[in-house]
Amino acid sequence: MKGLKGELSSRRPQPVVAPLTRAAIFLVVTVNPGDDHRATVRALCEDFPALVRAVAFRDLEGYLSCVIGFGSAAWDRVFGDPRPAELHEFRDVRAGPRHAVSTPGDILFHIRAARTDLCFELATQFMDRLRQAVTPVDEVHGFQYFDDRDLIGFVDGTENPTGQLAVEATIIGEEDAPFAGGSYVIVQKYLHDMAAWNALSTEAQERIIGRTKLSDIELAEGIKPTSAHNALTIIEENGKEIKILRDNMPFGDAARGEFGTYFIGYARSPRPIEQMLENMFVGRPPGNYDRLLDFSRAVTGTLFFVPSLDLLESLTS
Ligand code: HEM
Repeated sequence: MKGLKGELSSRRPQPVVAPLTRAAIFLVVTVNPGDDHRATVRALCEDFPALVRAVAFRDLEGYLSCVIGFGSAAWDRVFGDPRPAELHEFRDVRAGPRHAVSTPGDILFHIRAARTDLCFELATQFMDRLRQAVTPVDEVHGFQYFDDRDLIGFVDGTENPTGQLAVEATIIGEEDAPFAGGSYVIVQKYLHDMAAWNALSTEAQERIIGRTKLSDIELAEGIKPTSAHNALTIIEENGKEIKILRDNMPFGDAARGEFGTYFIGYARSPRPIEQMLENMFVGRPPGNYDRLLDFSRAVTGTLFFVPSLDLLESLTS
Protein backbone atom coordinates (compact mmCIF):
# COMPACT_ATOMS: atom_id res chain seq x y z
CA MET A 1 0.00 0.00 0.00
CA LYS A 2 1.39 3.40 -0.95
CA GLY A 3 1.81 6.00 1.80
CA LEU A 4 -1.21 8.22 2.19
CA LYS A 5 -0.94 11.67 0.68
CA GLY A 6 -2.66 14.73 2.08
CA GLU A 7 -3.96 16.05 5.36
CA LEU A 8 -6.69 14.37 7.38
CA SER A 9 -9.20 16.97 6.23
CA SER A 10 -8.55 16.12 2.60
CA ARG A 11 -9.43 12.44 2.98
CA ARG A 12 -12.65 12.35 0.97
CA PRO A 13 -15.17 9.88 2.40
CA GLN A 14 -17.15 7.56 0.15
CA PRO A 15 -20.84 8.56 -0.17
CA VAL A 16 -21.78 6.92 3.13
CA VAL A 17 -24.00 9.89 3.94
CA ALA A 18 -26.21 9.79 0.86
CA PRO A 19 -29.94 10.54 0.62
CA LEU A 20 -32.31 7.57 0.99
CA THR A 21 -33.22 6.22 -2.45
CA ARG A 22 -36.04 4.24 -4.04
CA ALA A 23 -33.78 1.34 -5.02
CA ALA A 24 -30.65 -0.41 -3.74
CA ILE A 25 -28.59 -3.50 -4.43
CA PHE A 26 -26.58 -5.12 -1.66
CA LEU A 27 -23.94 -7.35 -3.22
CA VAL A 28 -21.57 -9.45 -1.08
CA VAL A 29 -18.77 -11.58 -2.55
CA THR A 30 -15.72 -13.48 -1.31
CA VAL A 31 -12.33 -13.21 -3.02
CA ASN A 32 -11.00 -16.44 -4.54
CA PRO A 33 -7.52 -17.61 -3.45
CA GLY A 34 -4.61 -16.65 -5.70
CA ASP A 35 -2.33 -13.65 -6.37
CA ASP A 36 -3.94 -12.83 -9.72
CA HIS A 37 -7.38 -12.59 -8.09
CA ARG A 38 -6.05 -10.29 -5.39
CA ALA A 39 -4.54 -8.14 -8.15
CA THR A 40 -7.91 -7.99 -9.92
CA VAL A 41 -9.56 -6.71 -6.74
CA ARG A 42 -6.84 -4.09 -6.25
CA ALA A 43 -7.26 -2.98 -9.88
CA LEU A 44 -11.00 -2.53 -9.31
CA CYS A 45 -10.22 -0.18 -6.40
CA GLU A 46 -8.51 2.12 -8.90
CA ASP A 47 -11.32 1.93 -11.49
CA PHE A 48 -14.14 2.07 -8.94
CA PRO A 49 -14.82 5.86 -8.96
CA ALA A 50 -14.67 6.02 -12.77
CA LEU A 51 -17.09 3.10 -13.17
CA VAL A 52 -19.60 4.71 -10.79
CA ARG A 53 -19.23 8.05 -12.63
CA ALA A 54 -19.73 6.42 -16.04
CA VAL A 55 -22.97 4.68 -15.09
CA ALA A 56 -24.25 7.64 -13.04
CA PHE A 57 -23.73 10.00 -15.97
CA ARG A 58 -26.31 8.07 -18.00
CA ASP A 59 -29.00 9.69 -15.82
CA LEU A 60 -27.88 12.49 -13.56
CA GLU A 61 -31.31 12.55 -11.93
CA GLY A 62 -30.90 8.89 -11.01
CA TYR A 63 -28.66 9.81 -8.03
CA LEU A 64 -26.55 6.66 -8.41
CA SER A 65 -23.96 6.14 -5.69
CA CYS A 66 -21.97 3.20 -4.42
CA VAL A 67 -20.04 2.39 -1.26
CA ILE A 68 -17.46 -0.40 -1.32
CA GLY A 69 -16.36 -2.10 1.90
CA PHE A 70 -13.90 -4.87 2.80
CA GLY A 71 -14.16 -7.61 5.44
CA SER A 72 -11.43 -8.31 7.99
CA ALA A 73 -9.92 -11.44 6.40
CA ALA A 74 -10.02 -9.84 2.93
CA TRP A 75 -8.22 -6.77 4.20
CA ASP A 76 -5.31 -8.89 5.40
CA ARG A 77 -5.21 -11.08 2.30
CA VAL A 78 -5.63 -8.35 -0.33
CA PHE A 79 -4.03 -5.26 1.24
CA GLY A 80 -2.05 -6.36 4.33
CA ASP A 81 -0.68 -3.90 6.89
CA PRO A 82 -1.57 -1.37 8.15
CA ARG A 83 -5.10 -2.35 9.02
CA PRO A 84 -8.05 -0.31 10.35
CA ALA A 85 -7.95 -0.27 14.17
CA GLU A 86 -11.43 -1.74 14.74
CA LEU A 87 -11.81 -4.09 11.78
CA HIS A 88 -12.63 -7.65 12.85
CA GLU A 89 -14.95 -10.49 11.85
CA PHE A 90 -18.59 -9.87 12.75
CA ARG A 91 -19.11 -11.37 16.23
CA ASP A 92 -22.26 -13.41 16.47
CA VAL A 93 -24.66 -12.85 19.37
CA ARG A 94 -26.63 -15.79 20.72
CA ALA A 95 -29.34 -15.76 23.40
CA GLY A 96 -31.92 -18.54 23.70
CA PRO A 97 -33.56 -19.04 20.31
CA ARG A 98 -32.20 -15.68 19.03
CA HIS A 99 -29.02 -15.69 17.01
CA ALA A 100 -27.32 -12.82 15.19
CA VAL A 101 -25.34 -15.07 12.87
CA SER A 102 -21.89 -14.24 11.47
CA THR A 103 -21.57 -15.10 7.77
CA PRO A 104 -18.76 -14.81 5.19
CA GLY A 105 -18.18 -11.70 3.07
CA ASP A 106 -14.98 -10.13 1.71
CA ILE A 107 -16.42 -7.25 -0.32
CA LEU A 108 -19.70 -5.35 0.04
CA PHE A 109 -21.12 -3.15 -2.71
CA HIS A 110 -23.92 -0.93 -1.40
CA ILE A 111 -25.42 0.51 -4.58
CA ARG A 112 -28.16 3.15 -4.30
CA ALA A 113 -30.16 4.99 -6.95
CA ALA A 114 -33.56 6.36 -7.79
CA ARG A 115 -34.02 3.49 -10.25
CA THR A 116 -33.20 -0.22 -10.19
CA ASP A 117 -31.79 -0.24 -13.72
CA LEU A 118 -28.92 2.04 -12.67
CA CYS A 119 -28.13 -0.16 -9.67
CA PHE A 120 -28.28 -3.28 -11.80
CA GLU A 121 -26.05 -1.84 -14.53
CA LEU A 122 -23.39 -0.87 -11.99
CA ALA A 123 -23.51 -4.29 -10.31
CA THR A 124 -23.09 -5.85 -13.76
CA GLN A 125 -20.05 -3.66 -14.51
CA PHE A 126 -18.42 -4.65 -11.21
CA MET A 127 -19.07 -8.34 -11.79
CA ASP A 128 -17.75 -8.16 -15.39
CA ARG A 129 -14.43 -7.07 -13.87
CA LEU A 130 -14.47 -9.46 -10.93
CA ARG A 131 -16.20 -12.57 -12.27
CA GLN A 132 -13.13 -14.89 -12.18
CA ALA A 133 -11.73 -13.35 -9.01
CA VAL A 134 -14.70 -13.67 -6.67
CA THR A 135 -17.49 -16.01 -5.56
CA PRO A 136 -20.93 -14.42 -5.06
CA VAL A 137 -22.32 -14.83 -1.55
CA ASP A 138 -25.52 -12.80 -1.62
CA GLU A 139 -27.27 -10.28 -3.84
CA VAL A 140 -30.36 -8.52 -2.51
CA HIS A 141 -32.46 -6.08 -4.53
CA GLY A 142 -34.12 -3.65 -2.13
CA PHE A 143 -37.04 -1.42 -2.97
CA GLN A 144 -38.80 1.49 -1.35
CA TYR A 145 -42.15 0.38 0.05
CA PHE A 146 -44.82 3.11 0.24
CA ASP A 147 -43.81 5.95 2.64
CA ASP A 148 -40.33 4.60 3.49
CA ARG A 149 -41.94 1.69 5.35
CA ASP A 150 -40.44 -1.73 5.92
CA LEU A 151 -42.54 -4.78 5.10
CA ILE A 152 -43.79 -4.99 8.69
CA GLY A 153 -45.57 -1.71 7.92
CA PHE A 154 -43.57 0.84 9.98
CA VAL A 155 -41.72 3.89 8.66
CA ASP A 156 -38.02 3.02 8.91
CA GLY A 157 -35.25 5.62 9.12
CA THR A 158 -37.02 8.47 10.92
CA GLU A 159 -34.48 8.95 13.72
CA ASN A 160 -31.44 8.86 11.45
CA PRO A 161 -28.97 11.70 12.02
CA THR A 162 -28.75 14.15 9.10
CA GLY A 163 -26.18 16.64 7.74
CA GLN A 164 -23.13 17.24 9.92
CA LEU A 165 -24.50 14.96 12.67
CA ALA A 166 -24.57 12.08 10.18
CA VAL A 167 -20.97 12.80 9.19
CA GLU A 168 -19.85 12.92 12.83
CA ALA A 169 -21.64 9.62 13.54
CA THR A 170 -20.14 7.75 10.61
CA ILE A 171 -16.80 9.14 9.45
CA ILE A 172 -13.56 8.20 11.23
CA GLY A 173 -11.44 11.13 12.41
CA GLU A 174 -8.25 11.54 14.46
CA GLU A 175 -8.97 8.40 16.53
CA ASP A 176 -7.47 6.29 13.71
CA ALA A 177 -5.56 8.87 11.66
CA PRO A 178 -4.25 6.57 8.87
CA PHE A 179 -7.85 5.53 8.19
CA ALA A 180 -9.50 8.93 8.64
CA GLY A 181 -12.34 9.53 6.21
CA GLY A 182 -13.27 5.83 6.42
CA SER A 183 -16.26 4.20 8.06
CA TYR A 184 -17.54 0.84 9.32
CA VAL A 185 -20.68 -0.87 8.09
CA ILE A 186 -22.61 -3.88 9.40
CA VAL A 187 -25.17 -5.65 7.23
CA GLN A 188 -27.74 -8.24 8.32
CA LYS A 189 -30.42 -9.84 6.22
CA TYR A 190 -33.62 -10.43 8.24
CA LEU A 191 -36.60 -12.59 7.24
CA HIS A 192 -39.98 -11.83 8.81
CA ASP A 193 -42.75 -14.24 9.80
CA MET A 194 -45.47 -12.06 8.32
CA ALA A 195 -48.38 -14.33 9.26
CA ALA A 196 -47.41 -14.19 12.95
CA TRP A 197 -46.69 -10.44 12.79
CA ASN A 198 -49.99 -9.67 11.10
CA ALA A 199 -51.85 -11.70 13.73
CA LEU A 200 -50.81 -9.06 16.33
CA SER A 201 -53.01 -6.02 16.95
CA THR A 202 -51.66 -2.71 15.68
CA GLU A 203 -51.24 -1.59 19.31
CA ALA A 204 -49.11 -4.65 20.12
CA GLN A 205 -46.94 -4.00 17.05
CA GLU A 206 -46.53 -0.36 18.10
CA ARG A 207 -45.33 -1.40 21.57
CA ILE A 208 -42.72 -3.64 19.93
CA ILE A 209 -41.37 -0.89 17.65
CA GLY A 210 -41.97 2.00 20.07
CA ARG A 211 -43.70 4.26 17.53
CA THR A 212 -47.23 4.60 16.16
CA LYS A 213 -47.74 2.72 12.90
CA LEU A 214 -49.73 5.15 10.76
CA SER A 215 -48.36 8.49 11.96
CA ASP A 216 -44.84 7.31 12.96
CA ILE A 217 -44.82 9.19 16.29
CA GLU A 218 -42.65 7.93 19.17
CA LEU A 219 -44.70 6.41 22.02
CA ALA A 220 -44.74 8.52 25.17
CA GLU A 221 -42.57 7.62 28.16
CA GLY A 222 -44.64 5.40 30.42
CA ILE A 223 -46.38 3.81 27.45
CA LYS A 224 -43.26 2.76 25.54
CA PRO A 225 -41.94 -0.52 27.03
CA THR A 226 -38.24 -0.75 27.95
CA SER A 227 -38.05 -3.66 25.47
CA ALA A 228 -39.26 -1.51 22.54
CA HIS A 229 -36.98 -1.60 19.50
CA ASN A 230 -36.36 2.13 19.74
CA ALA A 231 -35.60 1.87 23.48
CA LEU A 232 -33.00 -0.89 23.15
CA THR A 233 -31.27 0.77 20.18
CA ILE A 234 -30.83 4.12 21.97
CA ILE A 235 -27.41 3.99 23.59
CA GLU A 236 -25.31 6.54 25.43
CA GLU A 237 -21.63 7.08 26.17
CA ASN A 238 -20.67 9.59 28.87
CA GLY A 239 -24.24 10.86 28.92
CA LYS A 240 -24.28 11.53 25.17
CA GLU A 241 -26.48 9.59 22.72
CA ILE A 242 -24.43 7.68 20.12
CA LYS A 243 -26.08 7.65 16.71
CA ILE A 244 -25.58 5.35 13.73
CA LEU A 245 -26.79 5.84 10.16
CA ARG A 246 -29.20 3.23 8.75
CA ASP A 247 -30.50 2.72 5.23
CA ASN A 248 -32.64 -0.43 5.67
CA MET A 249 -34.46 -1.68 2.60
CA PRO A 250 -37.36 -4.09 2.17
CA PHE A 251 -36.89 -7.03 -0.18
CA GLY A 252 -38.91 -10.11 -0.92
CA ASP A 253 -40.05 -12.94 -3.08
CA ALA A 254 -43.84 -13.05 -3.12
CA ALA A 255 -44.07 -16.46 -4.79
CA ARG A 256 -41.83 -18.10 -2.19
CA GLY A 257 -43.40 -16.15 0.67
CA GLU A 258 -40.12 -14.44 1.58
CA PHE A 259 -40.46 -11.04 3.25
CA GLY A 260 -37.39 -9.30 4.58
CA THR A 261 -35.57 -6.23 5.81
CA TYR A 262 -31.96 -5.74 4.77
CA PHE A 263 -30.41 -3.94 7.75
CA ILE A 264 -27.41 -1.74 6.95
CA GLY A 265 -25.83 0.45 9.61
CA TYR A 266 -22.84 2.78 9.24
CA ALA A 267 -20.79 4.14 12.15
CA ARG A 268 -17.29 5.48 12.83
CA SER A 269 -16.71 2.47 15.09
CA PRO A 270 -18.43 -0.94 15.04
CA ARG A 271 -18.97 -0.72 18.82
CA PRO A 272 -22.30 1.17 18.94
CA ILE A 273 -23.90 -1.23 16.45
CA GLU A 274 -22.51 -4.21 18.39
CA GLN A 275 -23.94 -2.73 21.61
CA MET A 276 -27.35 -2.29 19.95
CA LEU A 277 -27.27 -5.91 18.77
CA GLU A 278 -26.39 -7.07 22.27
CA ASN A 279 -29.34 -5.07 23.66
CA MET A 280 -31.70 -6.43 21.00
CA PHE A 281 -30.70 -10.11 21.15
CA VAL A 282 -29.62 -10.60 24.80
CA GLY A 283 -31.69 -7.76 26.26
CA ARG A 284 -31.15 -4.74 28.51
CA PRO A 285 -31.16 -6.01 31.23
CA PRO A 286 -30.58 -9.57 29.96
CA GLY A 287 -33.94 -11.17 29.15
CA ASN A 288 -35.59 -7.85 28.29
CA TYR A 289 -34.94 -8.44 24.60
CA ASP A 290 -36.37 -6.93 21.39
CA ARG A 291 -39.70 -8.69 20.62
CA LEU A 292 -39.20 -7.83 16.93
CA LEU A 293 -36.88 -10.83 17.02
CA ASP A 294 -39.80 -13.16 17.82
CA PHE A 295 -40.96 -12.34 14.27
CA SER A 296 -37.63 -11.70 12.50
CA ARG A 297 -34.66 -14.00 11.96
CA ALA A 298 -31.17 -12.83 10.96
CA VAL A 299 -29.79 -15.06 8.18
CA THR A 300 -26.60 -13.09 7.45
CA GLY A 301 -24.28 -10.80 9.43
CA THR A 302 -21.01 -9.24 8.30
CA LEU A 303 -18.79 -6.28 9.22
CA PHE A 304 -16.87 -4.28 6.60
CA PHE A 305 -14.46 -1.34 6.60
CA VAL A 306 -15.17 1.43 4.08
CA PRO A 307 -11.94 3.20 3.09
CA SER A 308 -11.92 6.90 2.14
CA LEU A 309 -11.76 7.54 -1.60
CA ASP A 310 -8.12 8.65 -1.24
CA LEU A 311 -7.17 5.47 0.59
CA LEU A 312 -9.09 3.40 -1.98
CA GLU A 313 -6.95 4.89 -4.77
CA SER A 314 -3.75 4.14 -2.86
CA LEU A 315 -4.77 0.50 -2.28
CA THR A 316 -4.08 -0.41 -5.88
CA SER A 317 -0.34 -0.89 -5.49
C1 HEM B 1 -35.61 -6.65 11.42
C2 HEM B 1 -34.79 -5.65 11.22
C3 HEM B 1 -35.14 -4.25 11.62
C4 HEM B 1 -36.27 -3.54 11.38
C5 HEM B 1 -37.51 -4.00 10.62
C6 HEM B 1 -36.11 -2.24 12.00
C7 HEM B 1 -37.06 -1.25 12.00
C8 HEM B 1 -36.96 -0.05 12.67
C9 HEM B 1 -38.01 0.94 12.78
C10 HEM B 1 -39.39 0.82 12.16
C11 HEM B 1 -37.54 1.96 13.52
C12 HEM B 1 -38.30 3.23 13.95
C13 HEM B 1 -38.16 4.38 12.99
C14 HEM B 1 -36.76 4.92 12.87
O1 HEM B 1 -36.31 5.72 13.69
O2 HEM B 1 -36.10 4.51 11.93
C15 HEM B 1 -36.18 1.64 13.88
C16 HEM B 1 -35.35 2.44 14.61
C17 HEM B 1 -34.05 2.15 14.90
N1 HEM B 1 -33.39 0.97 14.63
FE1 HEM B 1 -34.15 -0.62 13.67
N2 HEM B 1 -34.88 -2.19 12.58
C18 HEM B 1 -34.25 -3.39 12.38
C19 HEM B 1 -33.01 -3.77 12.84
C20 HEM B 1 -32.15 -2.93 13.50
C21 HEM B 1 -30.83 -3.29 13.93
C22 HEM B 1 -30.19 -4.66 13.71
C23 HEM B 1 -30.29 -2.18 14.53
C24 HEM B 1 -28.93 -1.98 15.14
C25 HEM B 1 -28.07 -2.92 15.40
C26 HEM B 1 -31.29 -1.13 14.49
C27 HEM B 1 -31.12 0.14 14.97
C28 HEM B 1 -32.10 1.10 15.06
C29 HEM B 1 -31.89 2.43 15.60
C30 HEM B 1 -30.58 3.01 16.13
C31 HEM B 1 -33.12 3.10 15.52
C32 HEM B 1 -33.45 4.52 15.98
C33 HEM B 1 -33.73 4.57 17.46
C34 HEM B 1 -34.07 6.00 17.87
O3 HEM B 1 -33.15 6.82 17.93
O4 HEM B 1 -35.26 6.25 18.08
N3 HEM B 1 -32.41 -1.62 13.87
N4 HEM B 1 -35.86 0.40 13.36
